[in-house]
Amino acid sequence: MVRADGKGIPVEGPLTAALDVDAVLFDAYGTLFDVASAAQRNSARLGERWPAFAELWRRKQLEYTWLRSLTGHYVDFWHVTGESLDYAMRSFRLDNPGLRAALMEQYLNLDAYADVPEALARLRGAGKRTALLSNGSPSMLIAATNGARLSGLLDPPISVDAVQVFKPHPRVYQLAVDRLATPAERICFVSANGWDAWCGAAFGLRAVWVNRGGAPTEGLPGAPTAIVSGVGDVPTLLGL
Ligand code: LAC
Repeated sequence: MVRADGKGIPVEGPLTAALDVDAVLFDAYGTLFDVASAAQRNSARLGERWPAFAELWRRKQLEYTWLRSLTGHYVDFWHVTGESLDYAMRSFRLDNPGLRAALMEQYLNLDAYADVPEALARLRGAGKRTALLSNGSPSMLIAATNGARLSGLLDPPISVDAVQVFKPHPRVYQLAVDRLATPAERICFVSANGWDAWCGAAFGLRAVWVNRGGAPTEGLPGAPTAIVSGVGDVPTLLGL
């Protein structure tokens, strides 16, 4: 495993050469797009509890994806995002259809992290293919990409909707291999969700974990090839 300092330079571990891959796939929510930004933009209505609200919404959203995958009850990510928002609103005793509609609308127009556009441009400039590999439904991913003005920097998104199961089911990572017609070891997969990076690595992708907040490492099969502190470090890992 390799850690990287703030500039993306490996400081320990066996990755002494640049990552040699043909394509770089990115998780969407939490990796390129800041999922807390929807609640933050509604902080006037949510008050000082908006970060806790955003955290609960996100946690339930992920739990529901895993539970629906385990029980064979797939519905698309828009539906799951709404059901998890309803849970969070019940939990915070919020009965406000206008606020619910505003939060869902904001989910289609999330902020991208500041270092994302330049990192994508550097990768594309070096001839690497770039795309999203996400739980998001195709229409959500296209809206988010357009909203953050990233459409010129990403190929069409690869959505789990094509296999009707959520991450980290191996069918999702296989979908990336199939869509790109590229072997897993030639694909770098970048995720800020530790479980997603670990499971992508266990599948055979060259996974990079974006650990912005200094979270502990996961105790799951697989291990990312590299750990970086931001998406902006990824081109450096590839020697760009
Ligand atoms: C995604 C979730 C896991 O974009 O963040 O797939």
